[in-house]
Amino acid sequence: MIHQLVYYSRNTVAGGDRAMLTNMREILSASQRNNSRDGITGFLIFDKTWFVQILEGERAKVTETYARIACDPRHSAATIINLRDVHGRLFPNWTMGGAMRTPEVQEVYLQHGFGGPLEPARLKSEQVINLALDLQAYEVSRRQGQKLAS
Ligand SMILES: Cc1cc2nc3c(=O)[nH]c(=O)nc-3n(C[C@H](O)[C@H](O)[C@H](O)COP(=O)(O)O)c2cc1C
Repeated sequence: MIHQLVYYSRNTVAGGDRAMLTNMREILSASQRNNSRDGITGFLIFDKTWFVQILEGERAKVTETYARIACDPRHSAATIINLRDVHGRLFPNWTMGGAMRTPEVQEVYLQHGFGGPLEPARLKSEQVINLALDLQAYEVSRRQGQKLAS
């Protein structure tokens, strides 16, 4: 069984898009390093106000990782949306994928009914997962396009 945790939190790092992107890149690079060691996979959605993250892996590792993340001063008020055991991973190839909300991915948000800011307190974990899966698919096809073009 795989343990899956979905939570949201509020970004505390001020600054424009560039500062936020740098912040996101730093978070993802530490995440990828630690998560590959700990057998954690998942996806991090960042809409510039809110982080929404899916963590999946062995129960003890997920708990330990979440405890570390929750203390991070780059965000506050981390709140678990859902915690459950599932049969398999949804993001097996991503030690931590991530997408910041940019005009480029707005279409994906719109397809999921998110025209305006996210309201994470009202989100169901299935909505988060479906959005993350489509953001992941968008990212994969974007990277493939880049490879073909180069
Ligand atoms: C929104 C958010 C998501 C994060 N996700 C992860 C994660 O998936 N895995 C991880 O190890 N650290 C994650 N971090 C970073 C941790 O809070 C912490 O800085 C890091 O694990 C420390 O790693 P180090 O001891 O290798 O420096 C996240 C931080 C934030 C703000």
